[in-house]
Amino acid sequence: MREIPEKAVPLLLEWYRVSRRDLPWRENRDPYRIWISEIMLQQTRVEAVKEYYRRFLAKFPSVSALAQADEEEVLKAWEGLGYYSRARNLHKAAKLIADAGAFPATREEVRALPGVGDYTAGAICSIAYDMPCPAVDGNVLRVLTRLLADGGNIDDPATKRACSDRLIEVYPPEAGDFCQALMELGAIVCVPNGAPACGACPWKTLCRAHLAGEEERYPVRKEKAARKTVAVSVYVLRCGERFAIEKRGEKGLLAGLWQFPLKEGATIPPERGEIVRLKRAKHIFTHVEWHMTGYLTEVEQPSPEFVWATAAEIGSNYALPSAFKAFFEWLGGSR
Ligand code: ADE
Repeated sequence: MREIPEKAVPLLLEWYRVSRRDLPWRENRDPYRIWISEIMLQQTRVEAVKEYYRRFLAKFPSVSALAQADEEEVLKAWEGLGYYSRARNLHKAAKLIADAGAFPATREEVRALPGVGDYTAGAICSIAYDMPCPAVDGNVLRVLTRLLADGGNIDDPATKRACSDRLIEVYPPEAGDFCQALMELGAIVCVPNGAPACGACPWKTLCRAHLAGEEERYPVRKEKAARKTVAVSVYVLRCGERFAIEKRGEKGLLAGLWQFPLKEGATIPPERGEIVRLKRAKHIFTHVEWHMTGYLTEVEQPSPEFVWATAAEIGSNYALPSAFKAFFEWLGGSR
């Protein structure tokens, strides 16, 4: 991989000073707040995160508040954001930090927290502590492979390592701004689909891909395996005002969260009563796609194998993942 031109750094920092978005986690550099934002921003869009972030911090304003909360409360605050292991790891990590008495201050210690990988450790240390720790995700890979017209496969860990090495060589003292400026450029100018806004780019005179008119050729990546499709039958059982829900197992997809009783496969509901309505919904996870069919059945007796809750109780007390939102809204619930 080619070197990053020295001029690229001041140009990017100047652009960031005037173009940065006002985001709630940019108000100060408290490591707790930066950490929460970076965990929420893993695999999740900025627009989706903003409101969750505000609510989460209002509910858990400090590491100790988070450490003292019940896991159910934390999962409830995360409801709808997806990838729930993030919430469980945050909670675990908050307890470790509270026990240690202070937020970890080195990259190794930050990286050792549950739920923190190389990218997130780099982002936290750059943004909270101005350490020269690159944070290379898909956005940064796109921006740099375009700048340098680099044809390395971005799914190959060697390409990520090369980007990281090139970034370390040019990291300025304003590490936090530099790190966020790279992310920002990828988010609002050097965008992935459709035409990047090269006219607005601080690197338009340096970018090798742009100068060659080949922005769309980068980044290079190999074909990903197709997502598997799974049929899922969802049984919405109603007894008066209450609905049957159950907690998922402790392992696998949506572990430990709540759901309407369901079965994998296109099966018909067990004989519990007359099926009165039917609805279909789709939910896309990272590796599978659920094609769900919902069956609504009125039952006479609340079977003790389930928890029976009203729509309002489900809305306020149980973490019900977005996959079931279509069914929940259909029965008049809201969150
Ligand atoms: N994506 C990941 N981290 C981010 C941050 N701090 N600001 C904006 N987008 C991000």
